[in-house]
Amino acid sequence: MRLSQKEFDAMQMGWRKWYIENVELKTFRKFGLIIRDADTLEVGCGNGYAASLITPMAPTSYTGLDIMPEQLAIARGRGLQNATFVEGSADDLSQFSPQQFDAVLDFCILHHVERWRTFFDEAHRVLKEGGSIYVADLSKRCIHIVDRFLHWGHNEAALFTLQEFEAEANRRGFKTVHKTSDLGLEGYFRFQKT
Ligand SMILES: C[S@@+](CC[C@H](N)C(=O)[O-])C[C@H]1O[C@@H](n2cnc3c(N)ncnc32)[C@H](O)[C@@H]1O
Repeated sequence: MRLSQKEFDAMQMGWRKWYIENVELKTFRKFGLIIRDADTLEVGCGNGYAASLITPMAPTSYTGLDIMPEQLAIARGRGLQNATFVEGSADDLSQFSPQQFDAVLDFCILHHVERWRTFFDEAHRVLKEGGSIYVADLSKRCIHIVDRFLHWGHNEAALFTLQEFEAEANRRGFKTVHKTSDLGLEGYFRFQKT
């Protein structure tokens, strides 16, 4: 789903960059994410800030996927040497080959995807054997608080509790290797393909 203008503007701010770098990416690395020599897919890559941190770590490939052309234009404007940015939806990864990636990354986007359950099937198909999804995403409870005070206008139909999110990943062929959460508001997971 496209972001509201308010949320789009907030995503361009310094606090979001700080959080990606110092909390979310750090947590992924603590969970075992190795970028060097890995084929990586970031779903909902937004303005490409995470890409600017990841591409200097020498992945074999980095692909950023997003549904909003405005975000992709900013990402492409960074001029990152070894990054490819493509338009598409996280619930339809048919433009990628089976077993193309070692890691699929989610920096806070699946709570925008109404068919987030289907994302797990798609990620399962495009991940190599033993590959993992690294997730930093927001619970229904967190989004309700955000929308109450900031009025970002999320789509209720796309929201999930962290419990149902994990259960769905497990049901669709992933085991939970690591998980943690900030007061049940933001959840961090490493789900490995089984
Ligand atoms: C909250 S922003 C986060 C962006 C970026 N990951 C960041 O942390 O700055 C959510 C992003 O997901 C994208 N998005 C929303 N629905 C999507 C979908 N179905 N498939 C891919 N991207 C989507 C939006 O365009 C937006 O860039």
